[in-house]
Amino acid sequence: SGAVLKNATSFFSAKTIKTNKNNTLKNKKRMKPSSKAATAVLQTEHKGSLISSTSEWNSLKEHVKDIEKTHLRDLLKDYNRCENLTLEHDGVYVDYARQRVTEETMEKLYALARASGVKEKINAMFSGEAMNSTENRAVLHVATRAPRSKVINVDGSNVVPDVHDVLDKIKDFSDRVRNGEWVGHTGLPLTDVVCVGIGGSFLGPLFVHTALKTNQSHAADAQGRNLRFLANVDPVDVARALNGLNPETTLVVVVSKTFTTAETMLNARTVRQWIIAALGKEAVSKHMVAVSTNLKLVSEFGIDPKNAFAFWDWVGGRYSVCSAVGMLPLALQYGFETCEQFLKGAWSMDEHFATAEFEKNLPVTLGLISTWNVSFLGCDARAILPYCQALAKLAPHIQQVAMESNGKGVTIDGTPVDYPTGEIDFGEPGTNGQHSFYQLIHQGRVIPCDFIGVIKSQQSVYLKGEIVSNHDELMCNFFAQADALAVGKTPVELRAENCPDTLIPHKTFTGNRPSLSIMLPELNAYTTGQLLSLYEHRVAVQGFVWGLNSFDQWGVELGKVLATRVRATMHDKRNEGKMLDSSDGYNHSTERMLNRYLQGKAQ
Ligand code: F6P
Repeated sequence: SGAVLKNATSFFSAKTIKTNKNNTLKNKKRMKPSSKAATAVLQTEHKGSLISSTSEWNSLKEHVKDIEKTHLRDLLKDYNRCENLTLEHDGVYVDYARQRVTEETMEKLYALARASGVKEKINAMFSGEAMNSTENRAVLHVATRAPRSKVINVDGSNVVPDVHDVLDKIKDFSDRVRNGEWVGHTGLPLTDVVCVGIGGSFLGPLFVHTALKTNQSHAADAQGRNLRFLANVDPVDVARALNGLNPETTLVVVVSKTFTTAETMLNARTVRQWIIAALGKEAVSKHMVAVSTNLKLVSEFGIDPKNAFAFWDWVGGRYSVCSAVGMLPLALQYGFETCEQFLKGAWSMDEHFATAEFEKNLPVTLGLISTWNVSFLGCDARAILPYCQALAKLAPHIQQVAMESNGKGVTIDGTPVDYPTGEIDFGEPGTNGQHSFYQLIHQGRVIPCDFIGVIKSQQSVYLKGEIVSNHDELMCNFFAQADALAVGKTPVELRAENCPDTLIPHKTFTGNRPSLSIMLPELNAYTTGQLLSLYEHRVAVQGFVWGLNSFDQWGVELGKVLATRVRATMHDKRNEGKMLDSSDGYNHSTERMLNRYLQGKAQ
């Protein structure tokens, strides 16, 4: 049953834990993934067979009938179940007693994980196998946070020294910018950083920056400095990102794995023009640096390759925040030590993921629960609800990580799936979300929720006369919402409260709506790293069970191609002063809209 990667060695086996001494191979050679390894991954898959044809899957399908007979209101009365359905690793506490599962469900889910080769796939990932077979690449974002002493081989060569070479370079550069040794063209220190990048080259760094900026110790390190992001090709975003900045004190970091992404490159050219207009061409080398895997294009753009920070094709864009993509901006803003703590936090969860038995493994357990909700209970969406304003950008980041990874219609060998995969991720910090879309979650659709809270706030406010602190008030909602969803409110309870009969249907809460609660001791660089890694691996587990390639993203290509065609048409028509007609080959709807746009009609 399922896919088994028999030749995957355990990342933490004696074979791979050794110190790096004699590795002299240079980056290029190290970066080339083995096509043999990719074929091995494919060949060990049961070509054409789906996980849904296994007895483990069918047993879960049957089990849905049992779960349908239960209600969370009753399940939560079971002391032992509440005790058993919790997990903890290195301070990260997870309570999943409000999921529509019993201990039996969990046993069946762990069996499904075994049947789908989750352990072997985790080992293959950590061992640098080219698991991303459609792009013939290893999937090694874990290597970007591996300690110096680890050995992780890609195509027989250890990549960890390359990772630390770049980290050393980031430390050196960020120190020099921060202490005023590296100055701008006119001799002024560079206090403001604008990162130009989109998708994975934007959302992860924005998430981490948002998480840290009100943490008092990290904020102290960032004093007098600004970090901004420019992602959208919309000129409005350019205007907003540059608003109030002085080119003389601004450093621009162009972040693009490929260095070909249309939006990023146009924005980079626009910002380069902003610098040149103010300071002249020679200023570019002092005011623009890059993060990319494509150092040739960086150089062609006019950025000195000495001022470029490399990463590798075995780091997927949406998994790249721990590479220079996130570490350079964050080191510039907060200092390199903050990056080290963040990487350590992520690595702590990585190690746990790679070594803990399934029953105690946070990413495995959470991944299986999401798989259960999506593929067996028929839940299409998941709400990510941090009760922590500093996690405001968690949902947008995980939205990309999860939806770009698992939004697939075929398995890794191209077989169409016959079960739902992926989920629609969205979210807002509580309590804001409560006054927005929670109505639908309480009485409309069933949407599993992730509640995320911190025990100690980044800010402490306790007003005289209030019975709880402001943070306590926030967390009261964190606890209450999960129970409101799970327990609900019955007509009997409403009648006992003298609710008028006409209102009873409106005020009834069916309950039985699943959620899980994640509690962190506090939000700092270390715990942000843990949280990131937890979600990344959870997404991978879901993809492993569904048999997907969670590391490619062919679905984003078609739109890019069509935009290229529209761009050419727009250019030609504007030049010719003409409108489109049927000979241009667009459908009638697009032709009409384009003509309306070209005419510049405001109404
Ligand atoms: O949206 C597609 C995508 O390829 C993402 O996967 C990636 O994070 C983003 O574009 C940006 O790509 P790049 O870093 O190459 O500019």
